[in-house]
Amino acid sequence: MTDYELMLSRHSVRSYLDKPIEEEKVRALREKTEEVNRKSGLHIALFTEEPKCFKVSEPGYGIFKNCKNYFAMVGPSDADEKIGYYGEELVLFAQSLGLNTCWAAMSYKKGGVDIKPAKGEKLHIVIALGYGETQGHERKSKSISEVSNAVDSSPEWFINGVKAALTAPTAINQQRFRLKLEGDKVSAKAGLFVYTKLDLGIVKYHFELGAGKENFEWAD
Ligand SMILES: Cc1cc2nc3c(=O)[nH]c(=O)nc-3n(C[C@H](O)[C@H](O)[C@H](O)COP(=O)(O)O)c2cc1C
Repeated sequence: MTDYELMLSRHSVRSYLDKPIEEEKVRALREKTEEVNRKSGLHIALFTEEPKCFKVSEPGYGIFKNCKNYFAMVGPSDADEKIGYYGEELVLFAQSLGLNTCWAAMSYKKGGVDIKPAKGEKLHIVIALGYGETQGHERKSKSISEVSNAVDSSPEWFINGVKAALTAPTAINQQRFRLKLEGDKVSAKAGLFVYTKLDLGIVKYHFELGAGKENFEWAD
């Protein structure tokens, strides 16, 4: 499967099977989490077979069923974009192992997460993980021209990057971001609303995979 096919095949999944993740995969997820923490400076923790986090009586939106595995995304309080960027690396890694995921900012119980962030850090969000009842479904998406300045004559790598960015999960599927090709640099800007900075990190991760990091530099 190519990176683009992997991104296309990922959809948010909120209902999970009562099937534990195999030890070998848990080990791979732990190693990946450590690698991501080392390079990012974040303190992401993987919880498995721990149902307290998603025992929510009145979820904000999106009801989760049977979710017992998740990443707790901990890092500096102002590291929203970084949390999005590196969290999505974990999401796509999990997808490559045949697992399903869903970012959750509202639909979980913060008190159910057994973690104490250091001073200046916080639990930003969690990412649900496991074997889904289904693979999720395709959702509505904005078009290339709604989120970028791409035109037919734009370089192929830029168009591929924008296509990949459009497969990125965003809070309430808002897709409030703008990608602009300026010379050989690309600027990425978040719109004004909730979780748009975190979304931007996810979008930038997808864009890099689609465009190829060797083809461009970020403007900011
Ligand atoms: C930052 C962020 C926060 C989210 N929070 C929740 C949440 O609290 N509850 C929920 O059910 N889904 C949540 N989602 C999942 C989005 O609703 C979902 O990604 C979006 O509708 C797009 O669908 P897709 O992931 O299948 O592409 C969140 C996604 C992101 C990126």
